[in-house]
Amino acid sequence: SEVTFIDFHGTPRKVEGEDGESLMQVALNHLVPGIDGDCGGAAACATCHIYVEAPWQEKLPAMDAQERSMLDLAAGCDERSRLACQVRLNAALSGIVVRTPEAQH
Ligand code: FES
Repeated sequence: SEVTFIDFHGTPRKVEGEDGESLMQVALNHLVPGIDGDCGGAAACATCHIYVEAPWQEKLPAMDAQERSMLDLAAGCDERSRLACQVRLNAALSGIVVRTPEAQH
């Protein structure tokens, strides 16, 4: 599936990920700047904070309490915020576009 990461300058990077991979893994595999994934995907660091906009946001599974509480600690968190390590690719998400926050650049 195709994923586009847009950095805070507005530069898009379009990469390919496998279904089942998290957006954090896809970003690391392609050296996408703005996503560090320091905790290895345990929803425990918030260095994989991303913004997901409509129409993609409603296609994602609901976030759990752990993701919610980590995002509450993340700089610049808003209603578009998700943790990239908690979003796994599937066919319905092919073409998803996400933004990385300025604080992670
Ligand atoms: Fe640490 Fe996602 S990689 S919260």
